[in-house]
Amino acid sequence: MKALILSGGAGTRLRPLTYTGAKQLVPVANKPILFYVIENIVATGIKDIGIIIAPETGREIIDRVGDGSRWGVTIQYIWQEKPLGLAHAVWVAKDYLGDNPFLMYLGDNLIGSRVTEEVKSFIEDEDLSAAIFLKSVSNPKAFGVAVIDEGGKVIDLIEKPEHPPSDLALVGIYLFRPIIFEAISRIRPSKRGELEITDAISWLIKKGYNVQSHIVTSWWLDTGKKDDLLLANDTVMDEWLTTDIQGIIDSGSRVTGRVVIEEGARIEQSVVRGPAIIGAGSHLFHAYVGPFTAIGNNVRIVRAAVEHCVIMEGCVIEDVPRLEHSVLGRRVFVRPTPRNQESLCLMVGDDCVVEIGRK
Ligand code: DAU
Repeated sequence: MKALILSGGAGTRLRPLTYTGAKQLVPVANKPILFYVIENIVATGIKDIGIIIAPETGREIIDRVGDGSRWGVTIQYIWQEKPLGLAHAVWVAKDYLGDNPFLMYLGDNLIGSRVTEEVKSFIEDEDLSAAIFLKSVSNPKAFGVAVIDEGGKVIDLIEKPEHPPSDLALVGIYLFRPIIFEAISRIRPSKRGELEITDAISWLIKKGYNVQSHIVTSWWLDTGKKDDLLLANDTVMDEWLTTDIQGIIDSGSRVTGRVVIEEGARIEQSVVRGPAIIGAGSHLFHAYVGPFTAIGNNVRIVRAAVEHCVIMEGCVIEDVPRLEHSVLGRRVFVRPTPRNQESLCLMVGDDCVVEIGRK
């Protein structure tokens, strides 16, 4: 069995981070989301993984992920010239996937459980043409939504419905047999101009093919916007982080709770309260890093307090009394203005949000 990861698309929701990088590479607890996806696939025993990539971000994904050898699998890349929909991405991978069942996984979805058992039962039950993973959500309008019977068989599926028939959202993990290619060839683009995999699965259901569902009981994070990203970070650090100190902590510093300090990081005269991660080569000096903060590589935090933040590679935060609930992309500087104390002095790119404390 092979797996197909969808890592193309435009990534508009995580702007501005995704102007300069792929949304699947946005870090959660200092690890790209896509790596969690790959690890979950590897845990099923699948050895061949195809990754759909887009012209804008494909090169960056290839450079970060490589040929799969670090996970003991073979990864091949498949270019999708335009983000014409999830079903279009599957169609583009038709030759790669061949005549076998396959696991499809959206590259920006994180779940808190393995899918190994579901993959095994799908392979064994040849009656099934597809299987989907569902999760009960409070905002089903934002997702594909399914209606199932008592046995978990899917009887209806609608993409982002105005009036959701249930609260069961499609988590971005699917299992298919090759009949899906015929289904894709029979559907037309949706209102948003995309070939929807949801429509292809609906076609299967209408033609009488068996589509089974699995309810995800662990957490599921669709890392769409800033708050989703912070929540994903909180959840992963809360559940999976274990203390690992590789860097240097001087005698004037205090490090408590579950904390990862990567190689080459230096903590001087500072306080770090876990769960927190300090990336390789980063330097804290007279700093406070509070719970649920992930600091990327080569970040400098000097005379500043940072809590519940995702701070990416190469940022510098100096003389800042308190930075909270924030996401900083790569190489961002936050420091006092040398001019009028009352003024704000900004250099920010498109679609950034600057929130200022009220007096
Ligand atoms: O997150 C779950 C939802 O994902 C499901 O509930 C929906 O049924 C499903 O259609 C999908 O909806 P989204 O609107 O969230 O999909 P998005 O455009 O964000 O794309 C999901 C992933 O697939 C993302 O990693 C980018 C990739 N992609 C997307 C498109 C449109 C491609 O590789 N190629 C594409 O053409």
